[in-house]
Amino acid sequence: MRKSYQFALIILTIVGLLASCSHQEKKYRIGVSQCSDDIWRDKQNSELKIGAYFHDNVELRFAAAYDSDERQIQQIDSLVGTGIDLLIVAPNQVSTISPAIDRAYDKGIPVIVFERKTNTKKYTAYMGADNYEMGHLMGEYVASRLHERGRIIEVMGLKGSSPAIERHNGFREAIAQHPGIQVVATLQGDWTEPTAYNTVKQWLDKNKGAEKIDLVFGMNDRTAMGARKAFEEAGGALPLFCGIDGLPGENGGIRLVQDSLLDASYIYPTHGDQLLQLAVDILEGNPYEKETKLMSALVTQDNARVLLMESEEVMRQSRNLERLHEKASQYFNQLGNQRTLTFVALAAILLLLALLAGIYMYYLQRARIQDERIQMEREQLDFYTQVSHELRTPLTLIQGPLDQLLRTNDFRTASDNARELFTIVRRNTHHLTALVNKMLDAQVGGRKPDMTSEQIDAITVQNPVDVPNGNPVADEDASTVLIVDDNSDIRAYLRSILQGQYRLLEAEDGQRGLELAREQVPDLIVSDVMMPVMNGLEFCQQVKKDNISSHIPVILLTARALEKHQIEGYESGADAYITKPFSPELLLARIDNLLQSRHQLKDLWGMKPMAGIASTEASAASAEPADAAPAPIEDAFISRFKSLVEERLADSNLSVEELAAAMGLSRVQLYRKVKAMTGNTPVDLLRKARLAQAQRLLQESGLTVSEIAYQVGFASPSYFTKCYKDEFGTVPGEARKS
Ligand code: FRU
Repeated sequence: MRKSYQFALIILTIVGLLASCSHQEKKYRIGVSQCSDDIWRDKQNSELKIGAYFHDNVELRFAAAYDSDERQIQQIDSLVGTGIDLLIVAPNQVSTISPAIDRAYDKGIPVIVFERKTNTKKYTAYMGADNYEMGHLMGEYVASRLHERGRIIEVMGLKGSSPAIERHNGFREAIAQHPGIQVVATLQGDWTEPTAYNTVKQWLDKNKGAEKIDLVFGMNDRTAMGARKAFEEAGGALPLFCGIDGLPGENGGIRLVQDSLLDASYIYPTHGDQLLQLAVDILEGNPYEKETKLMSALVTQDNARVLLMESEEVMRQSRNLERLHEKASQYFNQLGNQRTLTFVALAAILLLLALLAGIYMYYLQRARIQDERIQMEREQLDFYTQVSHELRTPLTLIQGPLDQLLRTNDFRTASDNARELFTIVRRNTHHLTALVNKMLDAQVGGRKPDMTSEQIDAITVQNPVDVPNGNPVADEDASTVLIVDDNSDIRAYLRSILQGQYRLLEAEDGQRGLELAREQVPDLIVSDVMMPVMNGLEFCQQVKKDNISSHIPVILLTARALEKHQIEGYESGADAYITKPFSPELLLARIDNLLQSRHQLKDLWGMKPMAGIASTEASAASAEPADAAPAPIEDAFISRFKSLVEERLADSNLSVEELAAAMGLSRVQLYRKVKAMTGNTPVDLLRKARLAQAQRLLQESGLTVSEIAYQVGFASPSYFTKCYKDEFGTVPGEARKS
């Protein structure tokens, strides 16, 4: 799980990096230091902003000094302090602001001086209109307007500011060319309307009754309007008023000229967008002009209307541009949000995948551990099974023979002391058996020990169970039992138990056992499970698979006491499963039971029970347990045998050898198999088949007894009659009558 967290962290870092990569472009921070705050500056600032719309990587920082030198110096320093990449400055006065500009420039920050000039050389570029020319043109206009004759007042801009100086020089030089024009007064203003109003008012107050003034030149439109206000208040005929700036809009100079409040103005170009482009060119290292002169024009009664219309159209387009920009930034915002969302979703998906991978790995590991545990348990179980097998076999060989010994006369006549010692041995053998069982149970759980310790302690040798003494050897007719066990002691012990009742065959492994089973076709097999060469399970399977031996009941006798081992045993086809150490009585009872229930097919030819013997056998057969029903393979064997016999019935020379050969068996094999399955020999069955056929013919045909005798394969009618009587208890003639 820890690994998957690390994986998730790596993924998040990658996603973060990807997201940040998309904003890699360098951002330009441009500081704009304006000396004043008025409609001209407002227009220029908004043009700067519009210019910045065309550059995604530009950020503008504005400051306005309200015509104060100190404030502008401080603002420039603090703009530099915020880490601007370029400074645009309109210095309030020529010399006062220079130290601050120098400081910025010396720090390596490019400086654009615009519109007003400074006395320092430390700037990167200058942009502005020609104020001298502007003053000069205005002087020429005034002279012509007054037809070379008239008295005028000049109201100056802020003292020390370059436009004021240059406009004055240009104006005066132009006026000097026209001797009829007399400059009555040059009053000091500071670019603002109130100051102009005050100075003009003071002059008017002082010069009451003086000769009429024909024209006032204010160095900007606001100054001209301040002067006009003072003259209006003073009363009398108003002179003409001329200004500079010629701004568009409601209170702009163009409209003032159009409304005849001003006689003329001069458009003082703002060109903020051009200024911003210059800044970007410098920052990006593109070629640029060091000095840019902005061109301009005079506004008079003649062109004011057209200029107003044009300027209003420009303003309308600017507003459209503004709206477009707003829309575009909305879309960009949405795009940005969507991109963020995409990255977040991507990260979430990757995280989920990492989590799933983690869970998958966790379950994989758990399954592996589980497998290992199961494997370990299996190995442990195998080990305990092996150990218990090793212990159970000798235990069987102590417990069994001891029990047998206790039944002998030698023991019955032994001393009390000897009997006591035997009791101890017997009790402790049972103790040991119980311990072995317990040990195995501890590994698999659930199974109860065979005996409680109280039961074991109660064991004495006073009343041993009576088991048939194994010493006498069974006769020729007794059933044959094949013992298969690799342990010769076990074989000997089994021999001692079984030899009194059964003929015995012995094999030391499954392979040999299989050979014997095929050759000798025993009536029953008792086999160990854990054996070399071929184990008991495999052996049992082979026995049950083979046509010759398939009918033989197999008892598995084994130390493998667990339920699952028993299931394995039954699955291999075993008929019974007895665990070691076993009781001889149980084994004998089981063998007897299996042999009893084995003659499943007795009346092959459905002979009518005319004699008592047939009905006895039939009822015995029906008393057999339901689970003893014949297996399909045996049915197949018997039906094959039946049809063979029926085909050759008329052949009086038909021998058992011929029948066996036709079945693919030896005479002995056929004999044993048929006997085991039906309780009759093949010869008996052949005779029974002939007699059954004869019985049918007697009842259904008109043939004579002799003809029937020959037809069913009897060589002589008299012998037929004898056999018929033996089988059915009546002579053939009787059957004909009935
Ligand atoms: C604006 C302004 C204008 C004038 C110019 C001179 O701040 O006062 O009215 O033409 O500055 O620099």
